[in-house]
Amino acid sequence: MKIAFVGKGGSGKTTLSSLFIRRLAARRVPVTAVDADINQHLGVALGLTEEQAAAMPPMGERLPLIKEHLRGDNPRILSAETMIKTTPPGEGSRLLRLAEDNPVFDACARTVPLDDGAARLLVTGPFTEDDLGVACYHSKTGAVELVLNHLVDGRGEFLVVDMTAGSDSFASGMFTRFDTTFLVAEPTRKGVSVYRQYRDYARDFGVALRVVGNKVQGQDDLDFLRAEVGDDLVVAFGQSDWVRALERGVQRPFAELEPENARALDALYEAADASYAARDWERYTQQMVHFHLKNAASWGNERTGADLAAQVDPGFTLAEEPRPSPQPA
Ligand SMILES: Nc1ncnc2c1ncn2[C@@H]1O[C@H](COP(=O)(O)OP(=O)(O)O)[C@@H](O)[C@H]1O
Ligand SMILES: [Mg+2]
Repeated sequence: MKIAFVGKGGSGKTTLSSLFIRRLAARRVPVTAVDADINQHLGVALGLTEEQAAAMPPMGERLPLIKEHLRGDNPRILSAETMIKTTPPGEGSRLLRLAEDNPVFDACARTVPLDDGAARLLVTGPFTEDDLGVACYHSKTGAVELVLNHLVDGRGEFLVVDMTAGSDSFASGMFTRFDTTFLVAEPTRKGVSVYRQYRDYARDFGVALRVVGNKVQGQDDLDFLRAEVGDDLVVAFGQSDWVRALERGVQRPFAELEPENARALDALYEAADASYAARDWERYTQQMVHFHLKNAASWGNERTGADLAAQVDPGFTLAEEPRPSPQPA
């Protein structure tokens, strides 16, 4: 299950994704965490020291390796250099499974021990000015998008991405890659306006967008969110002393998280798991192709000097059990 946490800076994306990841680990649900936020704080929120977090290998610097691996012997992708962040898999491509070691995870992932169990963590690496542009060949989140587009994940295993809701994810199609997108919103006009903007982008693509209230204090806050967001609101988190303590450098056992916040995490789990029923690999693959053709035309062809539309394998559909392309008669 591919899950994103998005929202405006400071809303609590990193905090809530880290709590969600801890909760999954405590439930013995296998979880891979990806830090794709502008401010790379997920590792520390999961309990790494600053030094350990700084030693994480950035995916952005391993793009050539990632592309080389995923390309496999797909004859439509002539070289890793012509592979852009939206290049879709086809026959011969290597697909990724969460319950395996592979060269991408070997190069980019580290195991983060948690109170209960552990999580696998990958990070994009720090962002620069360049990364915030619309169409960037070297985009850091491009590494994550390639992983998402080659991932065949099943029910009961999670990939959780802490992500910035920026123009990059809208232009590339990254925002369509998730079974559930949790938009973290504070009960403020700004918080809600980010939701509206995201919803407007998401509407045409069947994106399952759910709002998670955060820093909600009292009934007025809750009423405000309900009125603005309606049924998209899954649950609301209050101020957490457990989180405040962590901010002071005091790591309390996860089992001591406030019971109401632990219940809210379970509500997120239920919502995320329920989105399995809405999975549609055909649509997933079609959207991947749609955004690839868009990116090819707007900058990719010019940038690589190749006709990137030719990378699309018309007979290929990504699926949990990948089906091979039909053989020509
Ligand atoms: N529910 C909460 N209770 C207490 N503090 C919170 C809560 N959610 C977020 N915070 C605090 O708010 C700040 C911003 O949260 P963060 O998760 O870093 O936001 P984002 O990743 O969206 O930029 C952090 O200092 C964090 O500890
Ligand atoms: Mg953050």
